[in-house]
Amino acid sequence: MKNNIIKSLLEKYYIKEMSNWENINADLIITDPPFGIEFTGKNRNYHRNRNNVVNGYIEWKVKEYTNEIRQLLETIKKNLKENGQALIFSGWNNSNIIHNEILKFKGLTLRGKMYWTYNFAPACKLRPAHNIYEIFWVTKGEKWYYHKRCSTIHCKEGEPNLTTLIFKRDYKMNMPKYPTRLPFNLLQCLLEHFSNEKDLIFDPLAGSGMLGIVAHILKRNFVLGDLNKNGKIVFKALLKYYLKN
Ligand SMILES: C[S@@+](CC[C@H](N)C(=O)[O-])C[C@H]1O[C@@H](n2cnc3c(N)ncnc32)[C@H](O)[C@@H]1O
Repeated sequence: MKNNIIKSLLEKYYIKEMSNWENINADLIITDPPFGIEFTGKNRNYHRNRNNVVNGYIEWKVKEYTNEIRQLLETIKKNLKENGQALIFSGWNNSNIIHNEILKFKGLTLRGKMYWTYNFAPACKLRPAHNIYEIFWVTKGEKWYYHKRCSTIHCKEGEPNLTTLIFKRDYKMNMPKYPTRLPFNLLQCLLEHFSNEKDLIFDPLAGSGMLGIVAHILKRNFVLGDLNKNGKIVFKALLKYYLKN
């Protein structure tokens, strides 16, 4: 039974170039583009055994970054429902490019910006290091939904706000690892605020596919894509882990 569920969930992860997607009709897109900093995923300052990190992560060249972001915005527009919305992650280095391109882009409107802060202690011990991501919130139309409360520490502790999201990365031992995998609780917080049960959630740059796992557990449907076939290997290992636990 569990094997059948895993098989059917694996079929929702496609090895596909982001600009080849059309008419997915998603309610919510959450996506985390490459940083454009010649990131390999195998950097020494990460808190993990490098031998477990899979290969094949596709980085975007600095000189091509603006163009890639434009293509990502096209992909978002083509695959969102009329009243759909998207959350686009960005490292700090090139967030100015993402911000400017969203403002120039016709067909998506910037509604706000959030900051996710996370633990990055191994690097901070060595040198000054940022532990922040920006998350751009864009919508396609004039109507969208937003739930005031989620069931994570974001709303359970302190004052809930849509500015700062504080979640630790959830490292997994002795499993295939994907560079930059997003943590469960952060995705749970975003899905609970910005979507409803049965909604279709889409990520054309899915990496480990962590978004699909959280979406499934929260009773949302999902479609994922990435050009790196090793992402799907990590996705399978994570599915087994989370469906067992
Ligand atoms: C920052 S990672 C996403 C990590 C993901 N959020 C996770 O939780 O594991 C960006 C991903 O974009 C993929 N990618 C880069 N260019 C792509 C393209 N043109 N089409 C599809 N995937 C691409 C990379 O292989 C990488 O897996």
